[in-house]
Amino acid sequence: MNSFIKFSGLVFAAVVTSIFSYAATPIYLDEKQPLETRVQYALSRLTTSEKIALIHAQSKFSSPGVARLGIPEVWCTDGPHGIRPDVLWDEWNQAGATNDSCVAFPALTCLAATWNPEMGYLYGKSIGEEARYRKKTVLLGPGVNIYRTPLNGRNFEYMGEDPYLAAQMVAPYVRGVQQNGVAACVKHYALNNQEVNRSHVNVIVDDRTLHEIYLPAFKSAVKDGKAWAIMPGYNKYDGDHACENPKLLLDILKGDWGFDGVAISDWGAVHNTEKVAPNGLDMEFGSWTNGLDWGTSNAYDNYFLAKPYERLLNEGKLDIKDLDDKAARVLRLIFRTEMDRNRPFGSMNSDEHYAAARKIAGEGIVLLKNNRSLLPVVPESVKNILVVGENAIKMMTVGGGSSSLKVQKEILPLDGIKERAAKDGINVVFERGYVGDITGEYNGVTTGQDLKDSRSSEQLIADAVKAAKDADIVIFIGGLNKSNHQDAEGCDRNEYPLPYNQNEVISALAAANPNLVVVSLTGNAYSMPWLDRVPAVVQGWYIGSESGEALADVIFGDVNPSGKLPFTFAKAITDFAPHATNDSTMYPGVNREVNYKEGLNIGYRHTDRKPGRVNFAFGHGLSFSTFNIGKPELNDMDDDDETTFTISVPVTNTGNRTGSEVVQAYVHDVKSSVYRPVKELKAFGKVSLNPGETKNVSLSFDKNSFAFYNPDTNKWTVEPGKFEILIGNASDNISQKIPVKINRAMTWSDAD
Ligand code: BGC
Repeated sequence: MNSFIKFSGLVFAAVVTSIFSYAATPIYLDEKQPLETRVQYALSRLTTSEKIALIHAQSKFSSPGVARLGIPEVWCTDGPHGIRPDVLWDEWNQAGATNDSCVAFPALTCLAATWNPEMGYLYGKSIGEEARYRKKTVLLGPGVNIYRTPLNGRNFEYMGEDPYLAAQMVAPYVRGVQQNGVAACVKHYALNNQEVNRSHVNVIVDDRTLHEIYLPAFKSAVKDGKAWAIMPGYNKYDGDHACENPKLLLDILKGDWGFDGVAISDWGAVHNTEKVAPNGLDMEFGSWTNGLDWGTSNAYDNYFLAKPYERLLNEGKLDIKDLDDKAARVLRLIFRTEMDRNRPFGSMNSDEHYAAARKIAGEGIVLLKNNRSLLPVVPESVKNILVVGENAIKMMTVGGGSSSLKVQKEILPLDGIKERAAKDGINVVFERGYVGDITGEYNGVTTGQDLKDSRSSEQLIADAVKAAKDADIVIFIGGLNKSNHQDAEGCDRNEYPLPYNQNEVISALAAANPNLVVVSLTGNAYSMPWLDRVPAVVQGWYIGSESGEALADVIFGDVNPSGKLPFTFAKAITDFAPHATNDSTMYPGVNREVNYKEGLNIGYRHTDRKPGRVNFAFGHGLSFSTFNIGKPELNDMDDDDETTFTISVPVTNTGNRTGSEVVQAYVHDVKSSVYRPVKELKAFGKVSLNPGETKNVSLSFDKNSFAFYNPDTNKWTVEPGKFEILIGNASDNISQKIPVKINRAMTWSDAD
């Protein structure tokens, strides 16, 4: 070819290419390109300073993007029960915006009590829509720390004591949030099981317990829910803070579980640049400034992952590869969220969200006891109701720490009951009974309620007792609240019994009127010295915006309760294994060290070893109907793997109301070379039945149902031998047993 033609051809091609590359979308903005191509391309265009900027906060809840390249900021919000009001740039205090009031969904304990993964999805989808509408990138929730002690002030933000139940509930929550293009940030990874000394306490726990009890819910959020973010907590494990912990972050999370998202520090949980940089944390928030009484100017530049990190990188003391990995993860997060042009727009305070909150609450409220069918309230026998107790009139959405909200509305229990009672022409009277906590403020959000009452406690009781004598039914609504040392972040409860003088009030009411219902609004178990004298007890949790309506739904029978306890209501604090021997090295720890000597024996794994330890067992919950669990049938056994099969359990509604029952299957290892708990939940299914109707509930099992974690090999292990599958409707109410024989040993690791 003539060299002139060849040359002009090349020039032409170059001009066309450059015109097109100008007009074409840069690769990192082109959503048709694979995610990893975009991430790597964007990363290749960043300077070291830009990468550093991406990985730490610029304000209380945000981090910068890369303005030069049009890569947006990341905005986080609490979580996990509603979208926290916007705060000032550098402070915890609310900014005073008028467009940030939200729907408060029920606390996660209530969600777990639904035993219905569909409710997990509905919850995640709804709160995710609110987060999206409020233009948030990351929702700081859900929380899945296991309920180890009933004194933990943050149990209400978590999903109970059982790793399998929490694992089943968390994954759909995460999926629901993330379908909105908002990242769920699962917290607090891991072993953050108490608030006392939370920033320093070093947890000593054996590997088997770690893997069998404390990690499965996080693993499920990552592997099944595909969470885009996770929050290492404040505490230490194995001598290292969770944010600087190579075993938790590198070996397990990013290694074995293949997590490709972002590990976001809890606020102020990072302590050291040289330790945090190489050990797997990706983003730092909340260090060195609380915006109130401590902090430095330019605090953000002084973050451990800011200028100090850059300095050490420049000095060659830290590896740039780690920074690249962190920045790539943050970019991936941004592409999945802010830069996903196809994500929905979200919505807030919609009728659907209120309906979701009410539905989840209705399915999560647990009817613990109902002698003489005292509930539901029916107009034929009830003309006058007395409601007693502070929690009937106290807003519960303000307080408790970072989950505190500013709600668009909160229907109080008394109001919900009054409104519903009026429909049946029933009269409702209120008496306070006791004064607990009259405060109502958190970070500048106030309830505006005046809860002062100058009567003495004797007078309050006398007035309530007097009113009780004229009532057809007395509904006491008490429990804990969100003030310090109740159900609140930053401190644990001081005692297991109900606070203030509620036990006295309840006893006096029980003596005055035999038709007493105790409704407790708590996120924790408590002792019930009056239980023999109280015919009906309801666990009402903290249920958010629709509290009053959801409680009234159950009290008046518009909703047939179907919630089941996600943790054990033991009789005494000493019936919880960490407290059994009053050993302070087990709780709250000595010299900033807490030793989980009880190992696997958390909740029912401990109480079910000996009868008589519980008031209400894990999994317990009544209905206004009755159910019969029939003879189960084992089927679909896999020819090559006898651990994989289904069991079909016929359930019949033997009562006269439509209602739901939860069939629970626990595995018992008849003989093992290692200690196994007496039983462990491995499958469950919730079924709704009309009166007289029978349906089969299908429960699936696989190798995980029979395995224990072998710390010597770091492998899950199934030993051949005999197992029993125990089927019932509470951990202490087993009505069917199915023997299973496994002939073949199996081992595998999380990384397989
Ligand atoms: C809490 C987190 C929360 C964060 C931001 C911390 O004190 O432990 O759960 O997400 O603050 O508010």
